[in-house]
This record gives sequence, C-alpha cells and structure tokens, in this order.
Amino acid sequence: MTQEDHSSFIKTPQQLIVVVLLAFLVPIIGILLLVTLVLNRPSADPAALSPEAITARIRPVGRVEFGAAGGAAAGPRSGEEIVKSACAACHQAGVANAPRIGDNAAWAPRIKTGLKGLLADAIKGLGAMPPRGGVPDLSDDDLARAIVYMANQSGGNLKEPAAPAAKK
Ligand code: HEC
Repeated sequence: MTQEDHSSFIKTPQQLIVVVLLAFLVPIIGILLLVTLVLNRPSADPAALSPEAITARIRPVGRVEFGAAGGAAAGPRSGEEIVKSACAACHQAGVANAPRIGDNAAWAPRIKTGLKGLLADAIKGLGAMPPRGGVPDLSDDDLARAIVYMANQSGGNLKEPAAPAAKK
C-alpha cells in the first residue's frame, strides 16, 4: 500500500464524519443568521417621518422666547423661587454684608421699616445691592414676594401682597 505524499488531518472515519457534517451545518447556520438579520432589520417608524417629528428633531438647540423671561408674561412666581434663583447668591452667605436669610438679628431692624420701605429700597438698590437685586425684569410684585419670603425666613411676619392673578 502506497503512502500518500500529503498528510491530512483527517485520520479516522469519525473525523471524516465530523468534517462532512460541519461542512453542511456551517453554511446552513450562516444562512439562517443572515435571514434573521434581514427579517429583523428595524424599519423606519412612519410616525417618525411626520413633518412635526422631523422639525422637532432638526430644531436648533437654542430657542428664543420673547416676553417669557421673568416678567408678567411668565406668570407670578413664588417668592421662594425668586429668592432661590435671584437673591440667594448674596443673601444666603451674606455677600457684601447682605443680611443673611435666617439671620433674624440682621433682619429685625429692616423688617421694622415694613414691606413698603424694604420694597422701595430693593427697587432702587441699596448699598452693594443692585436695583431689583440685579434682576431688572422682576416686577414689583415679584420683588415684594421675594422680600416677604426672605424676611419671613428670618424672623419676620410680613404679609405677602395679593398677587394680581390667581396664585397657588
Ligand atoms: C449682589 C448681591 C445681592 C443680591 C443679588 C441681592 N441683594 Fe438684597 N441686599 C444686598 C446687600 C449688600 C444688602 C444690604 C444693603 C445695605 O444695607 O447697605 C441687601 C439688602 C436687602 C434688603 C434690605 C433693604 C433694607 O431696606 O434694609 C432687601 C429687602 C433685599 N436686599 C432684598 C433682595 C431681594 C428681594 C433680592 C433678589 C431679588 C436681593 N435682595 C438680591 C445684596 C444683594
């Protein structure tokens, strides 16, 4: 019996069977995977193609809103909101000798002058405090509510002015 020149890695009948089976199975599995891939490909959602959805997606990041900033158009904001956003920067830590929120001793003499006086000072600015606490578009009512909130957090018992519109 002549020995063949090249040597194969298939040496036994069992190995031959395995190789033959794999030769069938591997392409079949590959085809099945391809078929599922094609069938499951995500198709475009028709709702996402509506003009509204498209404009929403390609809308520029920045938007300009006229008349909505703080003024009357935004509706009344609570004193607490205004204080947190506009006044706390100075009145929380006592920057530039601002009377600190909760510092009853610092507020007591000021509260004695009443909301009218405090409001008048806050409108035109006082010492290191810029007019309207540095937020020019705060309305007098907003300012008054902010003052009431701050003063009442600091031992005061001021009455919140009635808001012009319905307020929670
Ligand atoms: C840039 C810092 C700063 C900001 C912001 C600021 N304040 Fe003041 N505020 C001060 C300082 C400083 C004083 C003390 C002024 C003084 O007595 O010389 C003061 C005093 C006051 C007083 C007392 C006025 C008086 O008659 O004694 C009120 C009321 C007041 N602030 C309200 C507000 C409100 C409301 C806001 C937010 C809308 C605000 N402040 C934002 C610095 C600030």
